[in-house]
Amino acid sequence: MCGIVCYKGSLDAKNVIIEGLERLEYRGYDSAGVSLIDNGKMETIKRSGKLSNLKDTLKDYKINSNIGIGHIRWATHGAPTDINSHPHLSNDGNISIVHNGIIENFKELKDELIEEGYHFVSSTDTEVIAVLISKYYNGDLLEAVQKARKDLKGSYALGVLAQSEPDRLICLREESPLILGITDNGVILGSDIPSLLKYTNNVIYLENGDLVDCKNGYTIYDSNDNVVDREIKEIKWSLEDASKEGYDHFMIKEIFEQPKAISDCLRNKVIDKKIDLGDASFSKEEIEKINRIYIVACGTANYAGNIGKYCFEKFTQIPVTNEIASEFRYADPIIDENTLLILVSQSGETADTLAALREGKKHGATTVVVTNVVGSSIDREADKSIYCLAGPEIAVASTKAYTTQVMSLYILALDFAIKTNKISQEKLDDILNEIIKLPQKIQEILDNTDIIKKYAKEIKDYESVFYIGRGLDYYSVIEGALKLKEVSYIHAESFAAGELKHGTIALIEKDTPVIAVATQEKIIDKTISNVEEVISRGAKVFAICGKSCEKLEESSYIYYRLPDTIDSLYPILTVIPEQLLAYYTSLEKGLDVDKPRNLAKSVTVE
Ligand code: G6P
Repeated sequence: MCGIVCYKGSLDAKNVIIEGLERLEYRGYDSAGVSLIDNGKMETIKRSGKLSNLKDTLKDYKINSNIGIGHIRWATHGAPTDINSHPHLSNDGNISIVHNGIIENFKELKDELIEEGYHFVSSTDTEVIAVLISKYYNGDLLEAVQKARKDLKGSYALGVLAQSEPDRLICLREESPLILGITDNGVILGSDIPSLLKYTNNVIYLENGDLVDCKNGYTIYDSNDNVVDREIKEIKWSLEDASKEGYDHFMIKEIFEQPKAISDCLRNKVIDKKIDLGDASFSKEEIEKINRIYIVACGTANYAGNIGKYCFEKFTQIPVTNEIASEFRYADPIIDENTLLILVSQSGETADTLAALREGKKHGATTVVVTNVVGSSIDREADKSIYCLAGPEIAVASTKAYTTQVMSLYILALDFAIKTNKISQEKLDDILNEIIKLPQKIQEILDNTDIIKKYAKEIKDYESVFYIGRGLDYYSVIEGALKLKEVSYIHAESFAAGELKHGTIALIEKDTPVIAVATQEKIIDKTISNVEEVISRGAKVFAICGKSCEKLEESSYIYYRLPDTIDSLYPILTVIPEQLLAYYTSLEKGLDVDKPRNLAKSVTVE
């Protein structure tokens, strides 16, 4: 995790870097720091805690600098203390480093360097890089970094400064993301697009192994130290897209953006009421070759995969396994050239998902990614890419990325089905007609939040909350429970409602909060019976219902009626009140909604 921002140009480097780090806060927030060179002298200032601590400290410094590196940390090696914060310096203080990623062989390197007489002050893996570069340093920072990188194993994006070369900034990317932004007055490098957006929309997505030497302009070297040209791309997102625009938090802004996000997501997939996935389309022959599908992802994206599995099996009859990425690659999955591997990743940078993609490719699978970040690592490595087009998602808890991931998987499944005659044109038309009404229906839910706020007030002091549902509703409550856990820190567990009586119902007592989702007509009576079982044991039920579950209107504590849609599309609606409940509960508890403790938005370590 972590985020880095580096700048060299004619502007005040401190401001550019701090503004960039503010936009990367979702990547980590247990400490932050900068190194800035002012008049040949390098100042390094770092503080544990939130970025605001560093900003307060910087007020006491009068630094006039046009070159610097900055870092926001999510600890992987060493506690979040001032000393372990980045930047890290070489023993002589000449070299300064910021690092996002993990150096796997840092212990061996550290032992060797200690034997050679170097010492270490932090317990991080990063300090080893600073010391190693200084060991190779002989007046030429580029040469020293190129030598040092040959000793490093792991994933890293680096920003490097040397006080002895005050006009030079070197950045390097190996597995961890790093984007080079080109502005009229200099270069800015950051871990993610929002950190650069204020200054430029022109970027180069650095490739693995790329090193950027920013001395006179910039020169890019590949991993064999050859100078290479990389294409400049224009980013379509604006700075407004990545700012709060009057909302109190990014999470609520992103929840409320879902009508637009779903419309945007559909815009380039359904044209004139016909599915058209452009370059990501599969031909009939390609689809008929597929005899097994794996959907692989982490966290919320993995839960979107549950719905994807349902859709593919329902519409295409191809067997699907939905797998957690960190498990997939070590589980000896059965993959061959007839396997389709669908990766789902908001950021397109999640290390486990990227590793799963590579594992799949190694065994001959066709790969397609559903991602929100065009140009991300997984996007570039997958055979085909389907873009969620949700716009930047900044809050750590994923909301609009989830609904657009579900939508994208749904459309892909329908495309497979129509091309292989598994679904009639008439049926497809009916479904597409319902799909295009979803943004309006989401808006209706967003206009009806009072009752959700009331329930949030009531559950905020509970230690445990249960979520129940059957079939697609079960998949939906898994995501609902995760949202509540992430932002309210309440223990929330999801259960297949029919399974409750085999154990979990023992936990239900008077006033236990239970969120029950009941939308699936085929099994509605069964679901209602399961909900009645917990109500009769005293549970305070918040029932999120579709049509034909009026029976719960009387018996549940809160009855929340969703707009009508077809069963298979309900997950896109049911999750909205679940997201809102999580958000308002977090607010009631006075927690940091956008940056929940211990979590990071983009997990680029395995
Ligand atoms: C982190 C985030 C989750 C996210 C998961 C996968 O754990 O906190 O919200 O679902 O990573 O991220 P991805 O970018 O691959 O969708």
